[in-house]
Amino acid sequence: GVSAKIAPSMLSSDFANLASEAHRMLSCGADWLHMDIMDGHFVPNLTIGAPVIQSLRKHTTAYLDCHLMVTNPLDYVEPLGKAGASGFTFHVEVSKENWQELVQQIKSKGMRPGVSLKPGTPIEEVYPLIEGENPVEMVLVMTVEPGFGGQKFMPETMEKVRVLRKKYPTLDIEVDGGLGPSTIDVAAAAGANCIVAGSSVFGASEPAQVISLLRKKVEE
Ligand code: DX5
Ligand code: ZN
Repeated sequence: GVSAKIAPSMLSSDFANLASEAHRMLSCGADWLHMDIMDGHFVPNLTIGAPVIQSLRKHTTAYLDCHLMVTNPLDYVEPLGKAGASGFTFHVEVSKENWQELVQQIKSKGMRPGVSLKPGTPIEEVYPLIEGENPVEMVLVMTVEPGFGGQKFMPETMEKVRVLRKKYPTLDIEVDGGLGPSTIDVAAAAGANCIVAGSSVFGASEPAQVISLLRKKVEE
């Protein structure tokens, strides 16, 4: 099967100490660092962009899993490529017209393309992006409305993960929003293998225990 990737969401970290927070998560067993890039337009919140990714890249070789909650993802491809982003996951809701060019540009800058969808977006909308000749390599199924950490997991999104896993046995399927010890069972059973977790990891007294539990549930 597919391997587990546990990705703490740095949105829940202390942004004033980003490098040390990143090192702390990696020493707790994180596989990836999930970086939430928001533009204050696609979502009602504003976070970080390429300059912060570039600064963090100087402190770590870790896989930087960038989640683009922005209206114009194409504008971010070159800056993020130069900054050293690893994964570039854009939203299907804003990329219906230009996803082919977007995927091609992401790959040409050496990043791994992914597509994300909001809770209300039907799963069928990402099929063409998985099945084309220039496919995305990951689907991020949002399990909360994008924009903020610390929200409640929406179990009704799991049907999309089940359908996707059945159709694509080896695809990387990521889930993001409200994941933690109390919601991992349903997400893992549905077929998710890449797990983003913000408040449940950063809010834990022993983040390493939470990360290893999430991994165990995906792998069992
Ligand atoms: C929400 C972000 C998430 C968020 C997850 O829009 O995409 O990555 O940080 O945080 P938790 O795990 O606290 O829901
Ligand atoms: Zn995210």
